[in-house]
Amino acid sequence: MKTHERVKKMKKIILTGDRPTGNLHIGHYVGSLKRRVELQNSNEYDEIYIMIADAQALTDNAEHPEKIRNNVMNIALDYLSVGLDPKKSNLFIQSSISALSELNMYYLNLVTVSRVQRNPTVKSEIKMRDYETSVPVGFFTYPISQAADITAFMATDVPVGDDQLPMIEQTVEIVHKFNSIYGETLVAPKALLPKNTYSQRLMGIDGKAKMSKSLNNCIYLCDNSDEVRKKVMSMYTDPNHLKVSDPGNTKDNPVFAYLSCFATEEHFQKYLPEYHNLDEMKKHYERGGLGDIKCKTFLFQVLEDVLTPIRERRKYFENHLDEVYEILRQGTENANRKAQETLQKVRHAMKIDYFANNDFLEERKKERKMN
Ligand code: TRP
Repeated sequence: MKTHERVKKMKKIILTGDRPTGNLHIGHYVGSLKRRVELQNSNEYDEIYIMIADAQALTDNAEHPEKIRNNVMNIALDYLSVGLDPKKSNLFIQSSISALSELNMYYLNLVTVSRVQRNPTVKSEIKMRDYETSVPVGFFTYPISQAADITAFMATDVPVGDDQLPMIEQTVEIVHKFNSIYGETLVAPKALLPKNTYSQRLMGIDGKAKMSKSLNNCIYLCDNSDEVRKKVMSMYTDPNHLKVSDPGNTKDNPVFAYLSCFATEEHFQKYLPEYHNLDEMKKHYERGGLGDIKCKTFLFQVLEDVLTPIRERRKYFENHLDEVYEILRQGTENANRKAQETLQKVRHAMKIDYFANNDFLEERKKERKMN
């Protein structure tokens, strides 16, 4: 077989996930969820696995198991609401896949403490949580367990926000190290980032760098119309844009950041036909003469268009929790099968598959006869 034929044959597999520590918000939507649904519906992928990362969530929530348990269902509802389709995507719960823990254990031997200390995401998360002197070991090593998550499914593509890039890099390193020691076994993944730079890390409604539950600056996918309206109308804009006629800054302005993620030309035609597109609207704001209220009203209309079908699907699934439970059970079963297959390959490569066949016994016998 020629190389390009082999490449063509390689399955395209997606693995990604979220920690169940709270409801998902519009930052998750533009940063990852929307892309997942597009990828799912492109029919270009052979297998798709979407993971509710409860075990990872426990690495910094060991004392709050009930919080994680409650949020597992919330995340599942968020997934189904945005249009993930259980016929195409396996939705599953991380802690029920025991192969992940075993892979993690072997990968821990392939990474140094100083390498994990250099992981920028872990570094900033340790700071954020004031963990500097007391970081739980499981939390410190979660990038390695994330490599287990990704490789267990032989994932080729991982759609994530840019804060997860260091995790993918670390996974690729582990894959190369593993393959160089034990022979070609694991697949190196690549990250799929959102194309729009504002989407890679959506700012909060307060203009802070990141939309985040702990900063209380989120618009949630499950917020109702009134909540969304209130939040949009209270959004931070340009503090120097006092009068409508003042020139305004669109750059650090979350109203324009959100519009660049969500507003389409159809939205302009429908709600704000005096502009063809966001560029024209921005130019007007920048030269002065366009007021914040008008911009916010438009943003609210755009968000409502995006959120309404999401709310409708949520309503259906909230009334059919049995169905959601069954979707998770089935998805977890499929994920388990795949991860077990990979684990067998890994054990074989590492020569610890003692009971998979007779080789181990035969080798030992031969050794003794020869001496
Ligand atoms: N770390 C991700 C988050 O914070 C969740 C996650 C766990 C993940 N394992 C993963 C994402 C594997 C992508 C691939 O949301």
